[in-house]
Amino acid sequence: MKCVSGFFAYTFLAGSICVTAQTAKLTIDASVNTSPVSPTLYGLMTEEINFSYDGGLYGEMVRNRTFDAHWPRFEHWVTVTQGNAQEKFDADETGPSEALHKSLRLTIKQSSPGNEAGLANAGYWGMAVRPSTIYRGSFYAKADGVGTAHAKLVSDETAATLAETTVDVKDGDWQRYSYSLKTAAGVKPSLKNHLEITFAHPGTVSFQLISLFPPTFHDRPNGNRPDLMEMLASMHPNFLRLPGGNYLEGDTVEERFNWKETVGPLVDRPTHRSPWNYQSTDGMGLLEFLEWCEDLRVDPVLAVYAGYSLKGQHVGGKELEPFIQDALDEIEYVTGDASTKWGAVRVKDGHPEPFALHYVEIGNEDEFDKSGSYEERFARFAKAIRSKYPQYKLIATTPVKSAIPDVIDDHYYLTPQEFFDLVHKYDTADRNGPKIFVGEWATRMGSPTPNFGAALGDAAWMTSLERNSDLIVMASYAPLLTNVNPGGMQWSTDLIGYDALTSYGSPSYWAQVLFAQHLGDHTVKSAAEQVNSRFFWSATVSTKDKVLHLKLVNGSDKTQELVMDLVGAKDGPAVMNSLHAATWWDTNTINRPDVIKPMSSKVNITSKNWRHDLAGNTIEVIDIPLQ
Ligand code: AHR
Repeated sequence: MKCVSGFFAYTFLAGSICVTAQTAKLTIDASVNTSPVSPTLYGLMTEEINFSYDGGLYGEMVRNRTFDAHWPRFEHWVTVTQGNAQEKFDADETGPSEALHKSLRLTIKQSSPGNEAGLANAGYWGMAVRPSTIYRGSFYAKADGVGTAHAKLVSDETAATLAETTVDVKDGDWQRYSYSLKTAAGVKPSLKNHLEITFAHPGTVSFQLISLFPPTFHDRPNGNRPDLMEMLASMHPNFLRLPGGNYLEGDTVEERFNWKETVGPLVDRPTHRSPWNYQSTDGMGLLEFLEWCEDLRVDPVLAVYAGYSLKGQHVGGKELEPFIQDALDEIEYVTGDASTKWGAVRVKDGHPEPFALHYVEIGNEDEFDKSGSYEERFARFAKAIRSKYPQYKLIATTPVKSAIPDVIDDHYYLTPQEFFDLVHKYDTADRNGPKIFVGEWATRMGSPTPNFGAALGDAAWMTSLERNSDLIVMASYAPLLTNVNPGGMQWSTDLIGYDALTSYGSPSYWAQVLFAQHLGDHTVKSAAEQVNSRFFWSATVSTKDKVLHLKLVNGSDKTQELVMDLVGAKDGPAVMNSLHAATWWDTNTINRPDVIKPMSSKVNITSKNWRHDLAGNTIEVIDIPLQ
């Protein structure tokens, strides 16, 4: 250590100011705004991947409820028998609707009270059962002779019946039946449970759409898991980009997200194969996506299918017209009133109020369309949408020349070091062209969920999003959700992990929560000297609240000694939230969910020469009152 009187590199020693080689100087002038921060900067991106909805956010507990797993068709269903009861199931080529035109036929050869036979389903890696809880179920059945159905939730471990009821199944054609199951106060929360539906009389019964829901967020029928919704709400999102991602495109045109087949009664939704290799129930259909936005009080960023699918099929010429019409119809379904054709359909589906919409995205990652057809496709969609809906901003998924997009969607999946190296990318980007939506980004390190190294890469990247938020109007991490069970994840490094019973936030999740909760409305002037190459910062202010949000990121494992001048700050206490781990590999898991979480503390600020040591592997967000 040596004592000097230079501008940077100070440390206090016995009343004098001395430098160490490591001390850096950070100067923030909170009175000089350099650029606005977009109020919509942080949001969510979603798609059916990693069992995000089925087996995730969407509350349905029964797996393969419509018997359309690719192979075997009745996967996740087994027969159950008591005593000498006998039964089998096979395919019935009829069903309750045009969409669900096949079913499972159960033939009970022998059964009696106490010796029942039927079928069972173990859910998505179990069924979460909690005490004093009402589960609401339904099924369609066509029966001959079986009489009363006995529905129950049964513990896999003890065979104990945790809740049960009976349903009178009438002989004759297809009918919908509903039932509810209530657990007792003493039931222990567990996911090792299954559903059984059994009969005490021989006969045949065909089933379709066997469903069971726990209580949902805001008690919406066909709704979402409360724990996951609460985690999303804590991220303070401003928008939800839906419905994908690759999921929008499908592997083939046939397998795209065909929104018209995802609305209306569940029995009229045929379900479809997702490009992530499993069948989507489409229980999370277009209206449910929009209600999800409503529940989080965010706007949808509506991505419309634009005639390109992942395996390279692309549509052009006259054949593109119905797809353009589908997009116009979709916008009308979202925003139209009851006097419009598709607005009226939404009203009939149970949502009289139109939804707010500001952004429409045309396609997804169309840079992968090597035929170059996006130029034509974008221009034609843009023309049709702009002539009917000039008020909406259009997002292109890759730069185009044929028509000028309002916004371009850039995606980044990188390592921590790659993000550290990228933080200045937008500092010098053109401010006169389209705005930027970073519609998918993530530091990919850690599986199934990101570790602390990834959180550091993310935090560094978010400092650059904030600094450039005059240009970057929105940004959303992807993927958002993963079921952590073996086979649940198709894409590693996902923000939030869960099983049927519990959920947890990764270190990256907590970094997002901290950044979004302390966003500010303007970036202010700042400069740093002598910082290590893995040190990053963001300085924004909330003008009305008179608060400086100072975000500090130390991606190295060494302490970064800092001396700060905070022009305009009040001397005195400030609130600091910090996220720290011993190493980049440290993380949270389903069994150790709380290893890395923000810690809140008070720090004493001096606006001049504030000496602060930022530990290695640390993210800090400090709210400093302004004069
Ligand atoms: O987020 C996973 C996938 O990454 C998205 O579906 C796709 O848009 C991107 O390639």
